[in-house]
Amino acid sequence: MEEKQKSRASFTSRIGFVMAAAGSAAGLGNIWRFPYLAAKYGGGAFLLVYIILAVTFGFSLMIVEFAIGRKTHISAIEAYGKLDHRFKWLGYLASIVPIIILPYYCVIGGWVFKYFGVFISGQAGASSKDGFFSNYIGQTAEPIVWFMVFMIATAIIVMLGVEKGVEKVSRTLMPLLLILSIVTAVYSLTLPNAMAGVKYYLIPDFSHFSVNTVLAALGQLFYSLSLAMGITVTYGSYCSKKDDLEVSATQVDIFDTGVALLAGLTIIPAVFSFSGGSQAQLQQGPGLMFVMLPKVFSSMGFGGVIAGAAFFLLVLFAALTSSIALMETVVSIFQDKLHIGRMAASILTLAISVVLGLLSSLGFGALSGVTLFGFDFLDFFDFISNSILMPLVALFTCILVGWVVGMKTIDDEVTISSKFRREKLCNVMIKWIAPIFIILILVSSVLNSLGIIKL
Ligand code: PHE
Repeated sequence: MEEKQKSRASFTSRIGFVMAAAGSAAGLGNIWRFPYLAAKYGGGAFLLVYIILAVTFGFSLMIVEFAIGRKTHISAIEAYGKLDHRFKWLGYLASIVPIIILPYYCVIGGWVFKYFGVFISGQAGASSKDGFFSNYIGQTAEPIVWFMVFMIATAIIVMLGVEKGVEKVSRTLMPLLLILSIVTAVYSLTLPNAMAGVKYYLIPDFSHFSVNTVLAALGQLFYSLSLAMGITVTYGSYCSKKDDLEVSATQVDIFDTGVALLAGLTIIPAVFSFSGGSQAQLQQGPGLMFVMLPKVFSSMGFGGVIAGAAFFLLVLFAALTSSIALMETVVSIFQDKLHIGRMAASILTLAISVVLGLLSSLGFGALSGVTLFGFDFLDFFDFISNSILMPLVALFTCILVGWVVGMKTIDDEVTISSKFRREKLCNVMIKWIAPIFIILILVSSVLNSLGIIKL
């Protein structure tokens, strides 16, 4: 509690607050997850839906979460109940999300670690060969070792409470990641046949469009902006009554979406250049970045090996700051709810994460025969958190704010520090459009996957 009080006062400037929120937002979601979803769900059609959602609903929900946090001045698990005691359970529902995400986030973090190692040890060429990635994740021991390295690094930083140091380093490194991403994207665009990829990525083709495109874009929006899981509420609780919430939300939204768009622009054209845009590659899911980026870097020659090593190192830092934010959240939930110390809460978090993470990691190797509702473990955890739980948390946040306590509470909170320029948009989104939309999408997606309707 004491630490929380301290950090709650710790955003001394609005820019510090925006940087912290942006640091938590930008991570594997932007660089690893966004490009593979865009490739899988129809390129331009996905991009269009995503951008529309980001500037309307993403923006509105972010302001609402900031405002709930700042108003209640308490972390998410209590915040919803403080607004209305009948919504106490929503705090719990939101808290389950980071508990599910953290373990598999660290598995992917481990893959990034491995690829950084591959590049600095001069094996970039080997990693660009077809089958390298699937062989690698199919092994039992090595991916587990890297997962544990990443997980334990996260845990040590959280236990020692030195995340501020890491955040500082990563804040100086993030602009570098942005610059390197731009350079790599530009290079990727000069590859033979890359323009076919640019077309696929930028020009919507609605024959690729389905209800799943929309659900995937919605889930990605929450994941990438760290919404609908209590984290942004907690960030809001740290910020001062002077900070302009609307400008902050806009900046975080633009930065986060920009990084994701750039990652897509690097990876998708590469699929067309190296694999002729084959559906098998476009549809492959979580492995896409790990398969395509080594090809891009290897084709650059020696400079590419260095660029690749630098790139994976920077992604590693982006992933680490996000995993720290996730673990911090889980630890503080356990501390508050189980009334245990920070160390005990960290060890409990670590234990749960190791078990769930092992399942995700082994799901590609020793346990590859086991599926849950047709998903391997990692995809299953990803699916229930992103496509089920987060839309539900968002839906009930809209109901709580729009219909129970009233949007006025949010509007009043925002206008303490500034004018609320897009108040109308936000009110209509939260009260009407978003809830109706989420219900329609969730119901049709469930019916679709049960085979009752075909969309
Ligand atoms: N938004 C992060 C990403 O895009 C994931 C994350 C979620 C990080 C919640 C912290 C908290 O990678």
